Amino acid sequence: MMEVRRHNAGFCQPCFLKHCRDQVSRAIHDFDMLGPDDRVLVAVSGGKDSLALWDILLDLGYQADGLYLGLGIGAGRDGYSHTSGTFARDYAARRGATLIEVDIPTEFGFDIPTGAREAKRAPCSACGLSKRHLFNRAAVDGGYDVVATGHNLDDEAAVLFGNVLRWETAYLGRQAPVLPAAPGFARKIKPLVRLGEREMAAYCVLSGIDYIVEECPMAVGNKHLGYKDALNQIEVQSPGAKAAFYFLFLDRVSPMFSGIADEEREGLQPCAGCGSPTTGEWCAFCKLVAKVGGSGVGA
Ligand code: AMP
Ligand code: FES
Ligand code: ZN
Repeated sequence: MMEVRRHNAGFCQPCFLKHCRDQVSRAIHDFDMLGPDDRVLVAVSGGKDSLALWDILLDLGYQADGLYLGLGIGAGRDGYSHTSGTFARDYAARRGATLIEVDIPTEFGFDIPTGAREAKRAPCSACGLSKRHLFNRAAVDGGYDVVATGHNLDDEAAVLFGNVLRWETAYLGRQAPVLPAAPGFARKIKPLVRLGEREMAAYCVLSGIDYIVEECPMAVGNKHLGYKDALNQIEVQSPGAKAAFYFLFLDRVSPMFSGIADEEREGLQPCAGCGSPTTGEWCAFCKLVAKVGGSGVGA
């Protein structure tokens, strides 16, 4: 029996798996994320959320390929990146699904820890900008309509919490479960926003999906994890508080900030290095590559 306190409900195994699929279908429908013929590229990290997302989208009948990015985190065959890649590949092989791979060290000549250090950025910031850039580039190059990521309710509520603490109005305008396509940008969707972290772990266990349990070693102790802990404490006392915080924000508050996000997308020009739309002459990823003296600018 799997209890979901937010819904005040308990589920047996088949009903729990159906509950997860239904929540994804409902998010897709409510936020108009996908059409039946869309080609979806699911960004899979080898973790529970993105593998469960890929599984659910395939079960719901969507055309969904995977994309795994090698970040070069952790040394050797037992390192974080090597292990997470193995989980993504094993899932794809077992399911007979297509997995596209982009290895940052091989293709651009640096790993994320080195890149972050040399560019004097926090690791998760160098990592995040590389992911955003390379997810989009792989989607545009591969003719995919949509990039789907495994961000769940806990992730989105924690990001929202951080943005509210500093009233980051531009980020608040962009924090939606769907970002529409624009010239040079595929649509971005987060179909797991109606499901929590615990539910995703249970989904994987109950459907026999092996995933990397270890968290990224670069993320240990970062602010985002602190916000998650804080929200979890609130949730213990008020089940449903996290979902209310996030969904009422989307309903009542985010429309006030969406104009700021639209303005940001206007006036973009092609990056001098890679051609992706950007505000300056060079996009953030090409600047990072240039700073680390890696290869691949203009690739
Ligand atoms: P994170 O930023 O690690 O919380 O991951 C958020 C989402 O980004 C995951 O649910 C995946 O969809 C995607 N993602 C993270 N790491 C990778 C990776 N190495 N390759 C592909 N997708 C990833
Ligand atoms: Fe990007 Fe950890 S996965 S810094
Ligand atoms: Zn560029």
